[in-house]
Amino acid sequence: MSRFCLDSDIAEIVARLGPAPQALAGKTVLLCGGRGFLGRYFCEVFARLNRTLLKAPCRVVVLDNLITAGEEGARLDDDAHLRFAKHDLIAPYRAEGGVDFIIHAAGIASPFYYRAYPLETLEVATVGTKNLLELAREKQARFLFFSSSEIYGDPDPKHVPTAESYRGNVACQGPRACYDESKRLGETLCHIYHERYGIHTNTIRPFNIFGPGMQEADYRVLPNFASRIKAGQPLKVYGTGNQTRTYCYITDAMVGFLLVLLRGVPGEAYNIGNPVPEISVVELVGRIEAVLGRPVAHNVVEYPDSYPADEPNRRCPDIRKARLQLRYEPGVPLDEGLRRFLGWSEGAYRGEG
Ligand SMILES: NC(=O)c1ccc[n+]([C@@H]2O[C@H](COP(=O)([O-])OP(=O)(O)OC[C@H]3O[C@@H](n4cnc5c(N)ncnc54)[C@H](O)[C@@H]3O)[C@@H](O)[C@H]2O)c1
Repeated sequence: MSRFCLDSDIAEIVARLGPAPQALAGKTVLLCGGRGFLGRYFCEVFARLNRTLLKAPCRVVVLDNLITAGEEGARLDDDAHLRFAKHDLIAPYRAEGGVDFIIHAAGIASPFYYRAYPLETLEVATVGTKNLLELAREKQARFLFFSSSEIYGDPDPKHVPTAESYRGNVACQGPRACYDESKRLGETLCHIYHERYGIHTNTIRPFNIFGPGMQEADYRVLPNFASRIKAGQPLKVYGTGNQTRTYCYITDAMVGFLLVLLRGVPGEAYNIGNPVPEISVVELVGRIEAVLGRPVAHNVVEYPDSYPADEPNRRCPDIRKARLQLRYEPGVPLDEGLRRFLGWSEGAYRGEG
């Protein structure tokens, strides 16, 4: 159980993609941020595709500077077609040979860490993105940028569920600006390289993805809760607890990400998430109690200094564009995702609270 993911989840992702990944056969993928939560799933999925589906293996070069990758991230898989290089994307990466796909999933994604590393957060999404777009231009590679649902800021309730066309309500100064604004600029860079140089860019705006493999010290809400549950401590709900979110289980998210990589319309951005249910953090505690079949104590507390306040009130994706253009359909209900995640964290976490 200490492994970072469930084999059955990787098998599910590959099965749901059908023959679409055949486009990766014999290709080279540069996977940036490849030792983070999402990056490690990409590694596992590519390794399984190589073993089970692809007519010729795809070669994966994994880059990460390990700034937040933690213990699990630093432990590299032994796979003949995956190669790791420690590299900080703030500096250009010189790739030998051809590169067909660049996945830019490097970033500082957890609010706790972007409060601690604001300049590194800003630079990986701006300087890092530009460096990688230059590489895409040189190699004529397809480019996939991981932006965030945070680019919408605190949306006007008229625009919830939020579609890709919503322009956002974002502060350029404040505790979250280093993340939100740099992701917006990263998207602008993708747009320019697509318009000016004809690079096939796509942007993904993930909405609260969760699942096995999130580090115990990730500080996003579900690892926080799971760690406190393991420790037998009451959960800490920040702010009022009335802020709403949707939660997307990792297998649904990975299917969506790969569909964007393989089928995305050039230049387009896609929301990837699960639009139901949109629930408050206090209601999420209730869902966890139902899944565990026992009461779980919680306290509503002030934001700690280490956590950037000014959270959006609501976050819920409109995924009609991904449904229509990519045939994307999330299939794992929240309770089932929670059951898989909490089962895994019970074995993997130490209960550091
Ligand atoms: N997981 C989510 O729910 C979610 C939601 C919205 C956006 N995103 C975005 O998706 C991407 C991946 O998310 P994640 O959850 O895997 O995050 P993560 O923090 O687990 O992983 C990101 C990885 O990027 C690496 N990294 C950071 N700066 C780097 C640099 N300068 N050079 C090289 N590597 C660097 C880190 O060491 C880490 O391993 C991030 O860009 C994040 O902002 C994720």
